[in-house]
Amino acid sequence: MPSTDIDVLIVGAGAAGMMAAIEAGRRGRRVRIIDHARAPGDKIRISGGGRCNFTNLGCGPHAFLGENPRFATSALKRFTQHDFIKRVDQAGIAWHEKTLGQLFCDDSAKLIIRMLTDQMREAGAVLSLGTSVDRLSREGEGFQVALSDGSSLRCASLILATGGKSIPKMGATGWAYDTARALGLRVTETRPALVPLTFEAGLLERLKPLAGVSVEAVVSHGKTKFAEGLLFTHRGLSGPSVLQISSYWREGETISVAMAPGVEVFAQLKAMKAGNGRQAAHTALGQIVPKRLAEVLVEQEEAVGNLADLSDRALRRLDQAVNGWSVKPVGSEGYRTAEVTLGGVATDQLDQQTMAATRIPGLYVIGEAVDITGWLGGYNFQWAWSSGWAAGQVA
Ligand code: FDA
Repeated sequence: MPSTDIDVLIVGAGAAGMMAAIEAGRRGRRVRIIDHARAPGDKIRISGGGRCNFTNLGCGPHAFLGENPRFATSALKRFTQHDFIKRVDQAGIAWHEKTLGQLFCDDSAKLIIRMLTDQMREAGAVLSLGTSVDRLSREGEGFQVALSDGSSLRCASLILATGGKSIPKMGATGWAYDTARALGLRVTETRPALVPLTFEAGLLERLKPLAGVSVEAVVSHGKTKFAEGLLFTHRGLSGPSVLQISSYWREGETISVAMAPGVEVFAQLKAMKAGNGRQAAHTALGQIVPKRLAEVLVEQEEAVGNLADLSDRALRRLDQAVNGWSVKPVGSEGYRTAEVTLGGVATDQLDQQTMAATRIPGLYVIGEAVDITGWLGGYNFQWAWSSGWAAGQVA
């Protein structure tokens, strides 16, 4: 079959790929964007509980991890959260700030996908779903690509935009990493991030009654800390603060948890003891943390009984259990539930202004496939929009 000539082939019609397609199409480039899924932007659709936390007002390189998080600065500055908000406004999509600068659609994440697909169509980009790459090779200054639909094409620019490995059930693959490697780019170690952490069987058994209990916590790992919700699960810990810290934590390390941050637990218990020493310790502690948590902690610290019967040492042990809990998770729930993949195509292989591979003319890597990973809270989409936009200006 003869091969068609196009300017830009984008593999992956997710957040980053669609943004690149819009921008390259608007420059008059002949753009084809393919995805093996049946619909574009599946992760956008399910994100933010169906409302898509599409950016964060406080977006900046401080909120990203990777070998060199500052790599993200240029793209984030050239296409900012405010630029994306302008597009959302122009499309008439209503949004609100939920918390911590996180912006969500009022209605449905599908509106963001519709905005992107409409703009791709207007820009003349051709979307092919249910399509993947069978074979690919460099040819002169460009690439020769055989697609799974039996067609083949030649393109001057190839953009790898297939994202990370998180949620394989949704069709996530390591294709961008494998392809980048095969083409000679370095790829850093990848691991699940923004993911619930798990406990060993003994600890799990002890904390079993707490499954479903949530608190506003401060969770720390070294100097990094996040003050957000924490949720006890049947496997260990989840909730925003734990997902955030999971990106920093490594096997064998401990995390510290304060479950009533800012509260002087010892002082409060002591005052309660002075006021009414006949109340049970778990009742008193239950005024500071959720009742079920209070019961488990009182039992664990062998502080059962009335406050009047408890020594200062016992009250301090409760204080420590609430606000100085040091715990060693055994692992994480893995790519099955991780929101993102940490690691990816090494940033020292790419140009920070354009996302172009510095030593392979015509090759670009954008979005989650790059070794740039954001905090929870709209940062990962902003990276996808910004890096996709940057590549779309030049590809
Ligand atoms: P993305 O994963 O979006 O797109 C990659 C595309 O490539 C997919 O359409 C896929 O089908 C396709 N593909 C994969 N392999 C292929 C292959 N071999 N051949 C062809 N196509 C292939 N972030 C955020 O900022 N706010 C939020 O609210 C959320 N919420 C959220 C919820 C959940 C459950 C998850 C899993 C993730 C989030 N995220 C998030 C993270 C966010 O979804 C993610 O960082 C971006 O979607 C990354 O955009 P990309 O375009 O790089 O990849």
